[in-house]
Amino acid sequence: MALSRLLLLCMVASEVWDAETKPIDFVCNRTARRVMNIVAEMERALSDCNGVVTLSTPVQLPCTELHVASWENKSYQERRGDIVASLRLLIEGVKIMRALSQPECGASLLQRLENNINNYLIILTNLQLSGPVVGPSLSCLPLRSQSLSTVLLRYNQLISGKLEKFMVNLEDRCTNQ
Ligand SMILES: *[C@@H]1O[C@H](CO)[C@@H](O)[C@H](O)[C@H]1NC(C)=O
Ligand SMILES: *[C@@H]1O[C@H](CO)[C@@H](O)[C@H](O)[C@H]1NC(C)=O
Repeated sequence: MALSRLLLLCMVASEVWDAETKPIDFVCNRTARRVMNIVAEMERALSDCNGVVTLSTPVQLPCTELHVASWENKSYQERRGDIVASLRLLIEGVKIMRALSQPECGASLLQRLENNINNYLIILTNLQLSGPVVGPSLSCLPLRSQSLSTVLLRYNQLISGKLEKFMVNLEDRCTNQ
């Protein structure tokens, strides 16, 4: 029941989807989640863009440190709130980078990165979770960086750490399908 509601919401969200991964697969298909992680590809592509490798202004980094005991102590709502707050920091950072980047080189790549982060945000904010609603809340005092590779590294840590762990927790929902 919970899963079919999730799938319905995901289909609504897919209208803004950039076709790399169907949201319907996100919780139940680890391969689809791996495909949606475009960080390695971004690292390669952006290494050719000197103008965006070092940012002229620092951007905030997400909270990626995962203390297993305290993470597992959080409700699902809190876990989502933690990840969503970090994704929002990242997307703000990418918007700043995009505004400052040279149009010839990094702009379309940064747009793709922004869409990618936004897709994660859409999926997470549309997930049906039980328990009292918890809004986005950062679990650290965010550090800042002027290095695009640091930003991408932290993005990857967020996706393959907290987010992946959270999705694995939710996979129970898939077994009854
Ligand atoms: C899982 O996702 C991958 C990549 O998108 C796809 O090729 C595969 O068919 C999916 N598997 C299932 C069971 O839907
Ligand atoms: C888990 O939550 C309880 C109640 O909020 C708290 O007392 C405890 O210290 C927490 N444990 C960890 C490891 O954060």
